[in-house]
Amino acid sequence: MKNAADAILRPEQASYLEALNGQSVRALAAMAGVSAVDGRDPLLAKMEARAADRGYPISDPEVACLLAIVARLGRPQLVVELGTNIGYGAIVLARAAGEGARVVTVEYRSELVEEARGYVAEAGLSKRIEVRHGMAIQELEKIDGPIDLLYVDCVKEEYLRYLEIGAPKLSECGVIVADNVLWRGHVARENPPRSEAERARALGAFNSAIVGRPDLCGVVLPLGDGVALAARI
Ligand SMILES: C[S@@+](CC[C@H](N)C(=O)[O-])C[C@H]1O[C@@H](n2cnc3c(N)ncnc32)[C@H](O)[C@@H]1O
Repeated sequence: MKNAADAILRPEQASYLEALNGQSVRALAAMAGVSAVDGRDPLLAKMEARAADRGYPISDPEVACLLAIVARLGRPQLVVELGTNIGYGAIVLARAAGEGARVVTVEYRSELVEEARGYVAEAGLSKRIEVRHGMAIQELEKIDGPIDLLYVDCVKEEYLRYLEIGAPKLSECGVIVADNVLWRGHVARENPPRSEAERARALGAFNSAIVGRPDLCGVVLPLGDGVALAARI
C-alpha cells in the first residue's frame, strides 16, 4: 500500500476537500452561461434546496463539477444517465456538453419524471434532454448508442449489469462515470453492517470489473461517496 493512502483518508482532509470542492459549483453558473446569484447558478441552487427539503439523493456538488468537466472535455453527442431524480445531473451534463449534445435520462418514479421535466423546461433544455419514464436496465438495453458518456447513478445492486450492457455501447472515446461506488466506506470494510452487505458486495464487484475490463481504463476516486471513472480503450 502507498504511504499516502492513510493521508488521503484522514477525516480532517476529507472534510477539507468536501468544503473546498463544494465551492466548485460556483463555476457551473459560468460554464452554463447563466447569471449567477450570490455566486451560484440560481436553478441548481433551487434544485439543491428542493432536494435537501425532500431528502432526494441528487448528485453531490463536487460530483456535478466532475461531470461538467468530463462533459466539457469530451464534448459528447449522446449522454445517457441512469437515475434522473429531479434532473440535476442531467441539466449539468447537458449544459457542459454543449449545444450538440443530447441527454437521455431514465427514472422509474413517475412523480420524479414530472418534476425533472419541469426543471428541464425551466433550464430551456427540453429539446436536448429526454427524461424517460422506465426501468434503467430495460431502457439501457433499448439504446443503440454509440454512447459518449454514460452516467451511472441508479440501483447499486445493478451497477455491474449496467456496465455489462453499457460498455459495449460506448463510442470509441466513450466514458463511464459511476457515483457512490464506495458507499459510505462500506465497500472497503471486511464486515459491513448486515443491512449494507449486499449493496457493498455488489459495488465491490462493479469496482473490480470497471478497473479490470480489458476494454476500459478505469479508476475509482475518493470524491464524494466514491466515483468510478473509465474510458474506452
Ligand atoms: C441517486 S438518484 C439520481 C440522482 C441524479 N443522477 C442526479 O444527478 O441528481 C437515483 C434515482 O434512481 C431512481 N431509480 C431507482 N431505481 C430505478 C430503476 N430501476 N430504474 C430507473 N430509475 C430508478 C430513483 O428513484 C432515484 O431518483
